[in-house]
Amino acid sequence: MAASDQQQSSSPAPTPTMLVPIPTDEEMLQAQAHLWRHTLSYLTPMALRCAINLRIPTAIHRAGGQSTLPDLITSLSLPSSKLPFLRRLMRLLVSSNIFSQSSDSEEDEIVYRLAPISFLLVDGDNNVVDGHISQTPHVLAATSRYCLDTVSGLATWLTTEEEFPISTTPFESAHGVAPEGVGRLDPEMGRLFEEGLRVYDASGFAVVLRECRGVFEGVGSLTDCGGGGEGDRRRVPGDQGRRSDGVVEYVAGDMFEFVPPAQAVMLKLMMHHWSDDDCVKILAQCKKAIPTREEGGKVIIIDIVVGSVSGPMLESQILMDVAVMMVTKGRQRDENDWRDIFMKAGFNDYKIVKKLGPRCLIEVYP
Ligand SMILES: C[S@@+](CC[C@H](N)C(=O)[O-])C[C@H]1O[C@@H](n2cnc3c(N)ncnc32)[C@H](O)[C@@H]1O
Repeated sequence: MAASDQQQSSSPAPTPTMLVPIPTDEEMLQAQAHLWRHTLSYLTPMALRCAINLRIPTAIHRAGGQSTLPDLITSLSLPSSKLPFLRRLMRLLVSSNIFSQSSDSEEDEIVYRLAPISFLLVDGDNNVVDGHISQTPHVLAATSRYCLDTVSGLATWLTTEEEFPISTTPFESAHGVAPEGVGRLDPEMGRLFEEGLRVYDASGFAVVLRECRGVFEGVGSLTDCGGGGEGDRRRVPGDQGRRSDGVVEYVAGDMFEFVPPAQAVMLKLMMHHWSDDDCVKILAQCKKAIPTREEGGKVIIIDIVVGSVSGPMLESQILMDVAVMMVTKGRQRDENDWRDIFMKAGFNDYKIVKKLGPRCLIEVYP
């Protein structure tokens, strides 16, 4: 007897289990499909990894932006017996919008094209193609066995007793080192992780300037805190950590102790790496570095604001939160989380100025 019939024909006092809604046949069939999708969706990033290892995006780019399957088999030097299998791999990648294809052709005549996602995976000189940095190192690092082993060990990590704030990330628990230390275990993988961290976000500063010009108008001086370049505290040798090319002054140092004074301080893709307490400490140093609001003082944060977007873009924000949970003590924050941190660091006001895809630009005022 179906659950709904049981409830109508007799009237026993409802027990907690009877309150569990039993799906209809239609819901069950849909759930089956979604469960397959969720269970098997790891195949998509692994197929993407395979496409990068074969250098399919680069091959299509070199062929002028489009290739048939036989063209790909030739340019990638694959055995022709593998053509039907490559076609199935490409179908998955097309259905995930990683490549696009002409729709009305016979199988062998299908023309595959670069889509914006695969455009970001074309390798070039110094990893730059048509002004875009190739994201292949990030995809290869994020789908490496180091990251897969980390998430496989998540249940063990979650059941391990630990005081809050936690001292060991799931990555450290699985491998005994942070991602920055992978080079000690595996030098080649260490280089890939370093490169992956450097390129993981396509929005270079040029994109930010183009999209948010007004934010930087009237800013006489700017400290790019954690800019990563030559001012990086880990990369500048002991030369008092200062160097200037006349326009940019590179200053090495620890932002927890000192932030070089300027009219504005920028923290681009920095804060999600740190715990709330650490963010408050970093912002307190930034506050010391800038003048009053009336004098144009502000902190410019570029980072995710969870919930600023919806649909697949929101999903990317939530995935990024779990991704940083694996490797850092930080997190991705929603607007309330950000507000709490700003107020605790002694700031008075903030404005979310602009969406930059899944990220936002936030102006924070003293
Ligand atoms: C994810 S990268 C962000 C780089 C850059 N802001 C960008 O938008 O691409 C984080 C940077 O923070 C730097 N960093 C880490 N700890 C730091 C500290 N205590 N003081 C200053 N910089 C630090 C790292 O070396 C790295 O360059």
